[in-house]
Amino acid sequence: MSSNLSKTIKDVLAIDQPAANNEISGERDVREAIAPYQAEFPYERDEEGQVTRREFCNFLFLTSGALFLGAAGFAGKSVYDSRFEQTYPQTKIEGAAELQPGASLNFRYPTEDDTAILIRARDGNFYAYGQKCTHLSCPVYYAKEHDRLECPCHEGGFDVHDGRNLYGPPPRPLDKIELEMREAEVWAIGRKPSGGEKENGI
Ligand code: FES
Repeated sequence: MSSNLSKTIKDVLAIDQPAANNEISGERDVREAIAPYQAEFPYERDEEGQVTRREFCNFLFLTSGALFLGAAGFAGKSVYDSRFEQTYPQTKIEGAAELQPGASLNFRYPTEDDTAILIRARDGNFYAYGQKCTHLSCPVYYAKEHDRLECPCHEGGFDVHDGRNLYGPPPRPLDKIELEMREAEVWAIGRKPSGGEKENGI
């Protein structure tokens, strides 16, 4: 068997070296040269091609499956997070009923660690925001003379009616706190991260 193999290799090498008056050999010449020995050294080129295609299809299937599962995981997490974000306590804001137009008070919402500010603006409506400035978290205050929220650290300013950042370094609006009037009482019922669409003036 080893002598047959050596002869086959020599035949193939001889074909790969063009004779002086011959042309370059191709796959067909190689096939002809090895044909007598295929019974001893079976080498199914077509089947090998099919295996390669099968493996390639498997690779595509597994890759696309992994991508699909990854995207589904992210989508599921977003849904879970959005549902989680909607859960807030409903809290009565003490002292709100006595607040006059052009005045404000501080409170904590949704937890004792979250400082917030309730404003009764000149228009008589109530507005509430997280008190941390969106620049470097200094506490904002209500500037009655300008009817807006201002930050003393780097002179940032926010619109009292929607929390928009008006000037200075703050990069985005204040977090809004959703309010609800219950008789003469004012209740905090939710909190929207800055950029939220819902109006919270009542
Ligand atoms: S922390 Fe408010 S403007 Fe910088």
